[in-house]
Amino acid sequence: RTVLVLNGPNLNLLGTRRPEVYGSTSLQDVEALCRAEAERLGLGLEFRQSNSEGQLIDWIQEFGWEAKAGRCIGAVFNPGAYTHTSVALHDAIEGIELPVIELHVSNVHRREAFRHHSYISPVAVGTVVGLGVHGYPLAIRALHRSSGDRLP
Ligand code: DQA
Repeated sequence: RTVLVLNGPNLNLLGTRRPEVYGSTSLQDVEALCRAEAERLGLGLEFRQSNSEGQLIDWIQEFGWEAKAGRCIGAVFNPGAYTHTSVALHDAIEGIELPVIELHVSNVHRREAFRHHSYISPVAVGTVVGLGVHGYPLAIRALHRSSGDRLP
C-alpha cells in the first residue's frame, strides 16, 4: 500500500525560502526522509508538490479513489498558504475517503493572525504543526498506525 505526501504552493522553495522560519532542509531532502520512513513501514511513497490549487484538488481526488480501493492509507498534506484561503481544498477532502493529516513546518499559531485559521483542519484527521521537517515522518507513522497495517 502507499502513502501520499502532498505539498502545496511555495514548498518547492523549502530550504531557501525564509530559512529562519522553515529551516534549511530542501524539499528533496524531505522526500528522502519520507521515503526512508515509508520503507521502514513497508509502504510505497507518492511524493508530489504543486503551486496550483486545481492540481492539488485533482491529486486529492485521485488518491481518494486509491484509498477507497484499499491501495492508499492516507495523505500527509502541507497546503501552504491555501490552508488559510481554500474552501475548494476543504471540499475536496470532505468529499472523499482519504484520511488526511494536515502538516505545517512552522508553528503557524505563533505567527501572523491570518495564519491562525485553517480551512483544512476541520476535515483532517489530525494536524502536525511547528515540528519542522521531522513532522513529515511522524505523520506517516501516525497514518500507518491508524491504517491497521502491521509493521513489517
Ligand atoms: C506553512 C505555513 C503557511 O502559513 C505558509 O503559507 C506556508 C508554509 C508551513 O509549512 O509552515 O507556505 O504551511
